Amino acid sequence: MSAEPTTQATDGPPGGPGFTWVCKVGDLALSAVAQAEIDGVIVAMVRDRDGGIHALNDRCTHGDVSLSEGDVDGCTLECWLHGSRFDIRTGHPSGPPATTPVAVYPVKIDGDDVFVNVGA
Ligand code: FES
Repeated sequence: MSAEPTTQATDGPPGGPGFTWVCKVGDLALSAVAQAEIDGVIVAMVRDRDGGIHALNDRCTHGDVSLSEGDVDGCTLECWLHGSRFDIRTGHPSGPPATTPVAVYPVKIDGDDVFVNVGA
C-alpha cells in the first residue's frame, strides 16, 4: 500500500449528497489498494492500471480479513488469505472459496478530489 487516504466529511457539492471526500487522486498509486474509513465504513480504495478508481467494502466475504491488504491484478482485487479474486467494478468473486460479492460503492472524481458514497 503506497497511499494513506484520510477522510474528511464535506457538505453539499462538489461531491453531492451522500458523497464524502476521501483523498486526492494522486494519493492512490496505479494498480494498488489503500484502506480508508468513510462514514464509519472501512473501504478498500483501488486504483486500476488505467487510473480508474473503485471503492469496495474492505471485508472479504469468505473470512474476516482486510481486502486492502491484498493485491490488485488487472480488474481484480485478490484476497491475501485464500486467493479469491473480486472484480473491482462489480464486487463479484471470480472463483472460490468466496461465493458472495463484496459491496461496491459509487465514486465521483471532481478535479483531483475523490468522493465516495457508502450509503451510510
Ligand atoms: S478470507 Fe478471503 S478468500 Fe478466504
